[in-house]
Amino acid sequence: MEEEAQAKVDIWKYVFGFTEMAVLKCAIELGIADVLESQDGRPVTLAELSSALSCSPPILYRVMRFLIHRKIFKEISFNQESTGYVQSPLSRLLMKKGDNSMAAFVLLESSPVMLAPWHGLSARALATGASAFVAAHGEDVWCYAAANPAHSKLIDDAMACHARVAMSAIMENYVDVFKGIGCLVDVGGGDGTTLGILVNKCPWIRGINFDLPHVVSTAQNWDGVEHIGGNMFEKIPKADAAFLMWVLHD
Ligand SMILES: C[S@@+](CC[C@H](N)C(=O)[O-])C[C@H]1O[C@@H](n2cnc3c(N)ncnc32)[C@H](O)[C@@H]1O
Repeated sequence: MEEEAQAKVDIWKYVFGFTEMAVLKCAIELGIADVLESQDGRPVTLAELSSALSCSPPILYRVMRFLIHRKIFKEISFNQESTGYVQSPLSRLLMKKGDNSMAAFVLLESSPVMLAPWHGLSARALATGASAFVAAHGEDVWCYAAANPAHSKLIDDAMACHARVAMSAIMENYVDVFKGIGCLVDVGGGDGTTLGILVNKCPWIRGINFDLPHVVSTAQNWDGVEHIGGNMFEKIPKADAAFLMWVLHD
């Protein structure tokens, strides 16, 4: 009986399960974490935050209450009767810029393009053919990105934010692995962030950032890194070692 009763409560988590992603995306788009960070730890009242973001206070209050309940931002008391918002470790990851930011990844995965395949998951399970992304969009994610620069930028920015987080851990713990390598090719290296960080820490390495032509054509310049466009299934540039780091479902 207790389990049955609990089930009737738990089901609501799934009915409204989408709200976590939606509210997180809203917080990033509004720039809530960026405003709080700019205050150097000083608590920001609801009135101040609403005014800084040009938001409706009652709606922003509800957004903040939802997030604080999940340890994204904190509300603290100050000056006896006032309360204000400050950053939490989780909310700091939502800042638009910074080495630890995961904001671009949230914006990619919460985009309508990336969510559409999930709406067809049951069809994918029943079918024997195309991936869920192909079923939703008619082509794979990389062809779709080549034809849709705005989506390509969402992917490249998300990968770059992941690269900054992952490379910081790799450089801290495994820099010795790269000793003795003269030339390194990063296969599917996105906008070159990975190699930019690597070559900066290991200046003896010449980096080749290899990715699809539409990706390298918009990639930024990094000292010591050459961009080469191509298809890894045909051939990859010659180097002493190849590096592969992929985090994306298809
Ligand atoms: C999941 S992302 C990984 C990005 C980066 N390595 C990281 O982890 O931050 C995969 C990358 O591979 C590239 N890619 C996909 N198919 C490719 C192909 N056939 N040849 C070369 N690059 C490809 C994509 O454009 C994308 O930048």
